[in-house]
Amino acid sequence: MSLPAGQLRSVAVLTGAGISAESGVPTFRGEDGLWRNYRAEDLATPQAFRRDPELVWQWYDWRRGLIGRCRPNAAHRALVEMESYFEDFVLVTQNVDGLHHLAGSRAVVELHGNIWSLCCTRGCRPDWLDRTFPLPVLPPHCPDCGALARPGVVWFGEALPQAALEASLAAARCCQLMLVVGTSALVHPAASLPVVALQSGARVVEVNPQPTPLSGAVDQVFREQAAVALPRWWRDTLAQGNR
Ligand code: OAD
Repeated sequence: MSLPAGQLRSVAVLTGAGISAESGVPTFRGEDGLWRNYRAEDLATPQAFRRDPELVWQWYDWRRGLIGRCRPNAAHRALVEMESYFEDFVLVTQNVDGLHHLAGSRAVVELHGNIWSLCCTRGCRPDWLDRTFPLPVLPPHCPDCGALARPGVVWFGEALPQAALEASLAAARCCQLMLVVGTSALVHPAASLPVVALQSGARVVEVNPQPTPLSGAVDQVFREQAAVALPRWWRDTLAQGNR
């Protein structure tokens, strides 16, 4: 890395499902990502929910059960340390698993929402958190008005929360370094953030055991698991900065 910690002020991180793989959360497009032969793209849509809310909720209930038993790994923890070190640090995640928060990260922008949050489909009240798994009744309903509840996540074809998108774009435009960790870089607008960072003059480093559409454009690639590469990169970067 040509920018040691001492000279780095502004760091942005984009994470995807791969950062949680070593915690035991299945990735979306990996072999273990299928549920009853459905792909994420078949279930994580408003159309699928309108057609069969119970089926979609059964999938989310299964994912909530899996995620609820998972703990943050060394990659999540390395990001917590980085946050306390850099003046300006933003962690943008596509993950809905809440593991960054559980690890202790505070400056987290959840681009695709959070699997523990529920929304009233009539919008009668603000979203609420419910960490119960399995949920006692599927599909769940709004405790105030009785309408169907939906998961507080962004589905394919839906707009991202405006504030989260703006904060992510601002971080991509302003950072000196962007780490892109464990994402297939296929889903936009999240996948555009590293491109914005590159166009704005930042160094971009990818951590992913597999090549992605982004790999050819970035400054450096670690073809390794996040829980191995991130803590090591962080130790090395700190050592350079302290020399
Ligand atoms: P994907 O499942 O598409 O990609 C996971 C990436 O993580 C792949 O590129 C893997 O090679 C990589 N990977 C696997 N194990 C890893 C490890 N131990 N360390 C580092 N990388 C590893 O997941 P996302 O890119 O997060 O959106 O998917 C993006 C979005 O598409 C998700 O947020 C979700 C999804 O469908 C919505 O639900 C809207």
